[in-house]
Amino acid sequence: MELLDGKGLANQLKAELAEKVKALLAAGGRAPHLAAVLVGDNPASLSYVRNKVRSCEQSGFRSTLIQKDASVTEAELIEIIKGLNNDPEIDGFIVQLPLPRHINADNITLAIDPKKDVDGFHPVNFGRMAQGLSAYLPATPFGIMKMLERYNISTSGKHCVVLGRSNIVGTPISILMSRRGEPGNATVTLCHSRTKNLEEYTQKADILIVALGIPNFIKPEMIKEGVVIIDVGINRVEDASRKRGYRLVGDVDFENVASRCSYITPVPGGVGPMTVAALLLNTMESYQGKIYSGAS
Ligand code: GUN
Repeated sequence: MELLDGKGLANQLKAELAEKVKALLAAGGRAPHLAAVLVGDNPASLSYVRNKVRSCEQSGFRSTLIQKDASVTEAELIEIIKGLNNDPEIDGFIVQLPLPRHINADNITLAIDPKKDVDGFHPVNFGRMAQGLSAYLPATPFGIMKMLERYNISTSGKHCVVLGRSNIVGTPISILMSRRGEPGNATVTLCHSRTKNLEEYTQKADILIVALGIPNFIKPEMIKEGVVIIDVGINRVEDASRKRGYRLVGDVDFENVASRCSYITPVPGGVGPMTVAALLLNTMESYQGKIYSGAS
């Protein structure tokens, strides 16, 4: 079994970006600039956004954090987005999800200029991704693809089983894994809450990508010996022995499952840091005008 060290790989990608930024500045250019909008005080979201800001600093990017009280209206938020869309100094921005219930997240996503949508959530980017055109790939799936690529894990012709069909992880990663390319060219099965006899699928997986948000859901008897497991779950479970009162666990019962895998991502330190690195890669691509440069 080999651990997929997302933290180490993300640090390497960020160091590579920092070198690029240094060269840009030396040539008289400006640094790439990522903005994040955070609404309310959801502790997990606060922690994710802080990580994104810290990672910008590590890579020499500029970052701007716009924090709004949970009482902000949808119209006010859309005004903020319009400002960011039109600000020539901002290369890309994200609106951290989830949003308070009174705000329609779809309206927010639709208000973002696809050219600055470094989260890859806008239907224009999603559609371009699905058709194999250049697009900002959603950060978590993009981070997973980068990890498979850098670890030289072959996916072609493999059976990839994805658990979870969210717009930000399950659905896009199932598209990317089945798309022509390497990583890609996998035979993909997408399972979700209505799937019957789930084990019949998970036991057949060569590559298992789990994005359910259910702590320790995958047990050893559910998998095949030698499987590659990508655990996207980041769940807080109470732990009185920790100073902060909780610890982070994935969707996989790591302790009992890991020894049966050929590769597995730990939680924390697996997919999470790769998501942030992928967001910075997208921001650099926006800075360089890469995604929307050609006819396609
Ligand atoms: N909430 C959970 N994951 C993400 C993400 O990748 N981007 C944003 N904006 N919000 C999230």
